[in-house]
Amino acid sequence: MTHVPTLTLRPDPEGIAHAAALLSGGQVVALPTETVYGLAADARNALAVARVYEAKGRPAFNPLIVHLPDAAAAAGIGVIEGEAARLADAFWPGPLTLVVTLRPEAGIASLVTAGLDSVGLRVPAHPLARAVMQAAGVPLAMPSANASGRISPTRAADVLDAAGGLDGRIAAVLDGGACAVGLESTIIGWREGRATLLRPGGIRAEAVETVLDRRLARPESAGLPDSPGQLASHYAPAAALRLEARDAGPDETLIGFGPGAARFNLSPSCDLAEAAARLFETLRAADRLGRPIAVAPVPRHGLGLAINDRLSRAAAPRPVNPARNPASPGPA
Ligand code: TXA
Ligand code: MG
Repeated sequence: MTHVPTLTLRPDPEGIAHAAALLSGGQVVALPTETVYGLAADARNALAVARVYEAKGRPAFNPLIVHLPDAAAAAGIGVIEGEAARLADAFWPGPLTLVVTLRPEAGIASLVTAGLDSVGLRVPAHPLARAVMQAAGVPLAMPSANASGRISPTRAADVLDAAGGLDGRIAAVLDGGACAVGLESTIIGWREGRATLLRPGGIRAEAVETVLDRRLARPESAGLPDSPGQLASHYAPAAALRLEARDAGPDETLIGFGPGAARFNLSPSCDLAEAAARLFETLRAADRLGRPIAVAPVPRHGLGLAINDRLSRAAAPRPVNPARNPASPGPA
């Protein structure tokens, strides 16, 4: 575990080279992607990957996504054929993760896949993430850069944030400003040959269905580890969260959606992309007021599916208050 203060690297050639050198040396570095900040390590270096789990306090049965600079590199790690190849063509680089058969000869540490014979692959679109991957020349295992169970970070400051942040637990964070998408990638896997939505995210499920020209299977509750983030409490603020709220109670902070005066509003114009981009920042800001949070209804189509997924996990009951003990191995 790193106990020195975490370096903040600037988004310039020097910062990129520094991040890449730390990564090829087996260190853990937080990087911006278009979805959320990721906590990166060389996916072939078991010790480096172990440092990621340690910094996050993450249960080791939850596998990590491997990030590559392009589809050709991804095809060296997993089998990308048929429907997976069509989705890779349509959506990479971008916020889509494909869970495909692992190529064992690729040398990915078994801690990354949690010993499964499948692997989650993603080619991110963010120029800084891509530049670091090119410079480091290694596949990067990269979960979201938050302590396990807490709100995903969409700015460098969130990665370091005192409440549940990673300051002093990781070597560096590369500061690339705010993430444009603001929600994690959509995850698609294949169950008995059927393309399945394992996690709604930054690519609309409807857009995936259009490319495949068929409906996605949507597991009611697929068991771990097929079901990313399916542990009940996830993305959780310290405060209690009430959903589908028309109004806030006297002690509550309201997060609105659509026209109307609320101090916090995901999108006054009902734009789901804007709401997705603001979701985690707004939860953090409302949480700082220290009162229970009430969230207005958000439609369940398009990106609203992913927004509602994150909100219901944030509202789920949790056994401990992770704000008081961010390193405790609680919910993932
Ligand atoms: O947008 C994103 O996907 C971000 C950025 C940093 O790329 N990453 C991210 O990673 O959200 P993470 O670790 O927080 O979520 C990855 C999810 C996990 O819940 C895990 O269960 C699932 O991906 N996953 C990874 N490999 C898998 C596999 N072989 N089979 C099933 N699920 C897998
Ligand atoms: Mg996460």
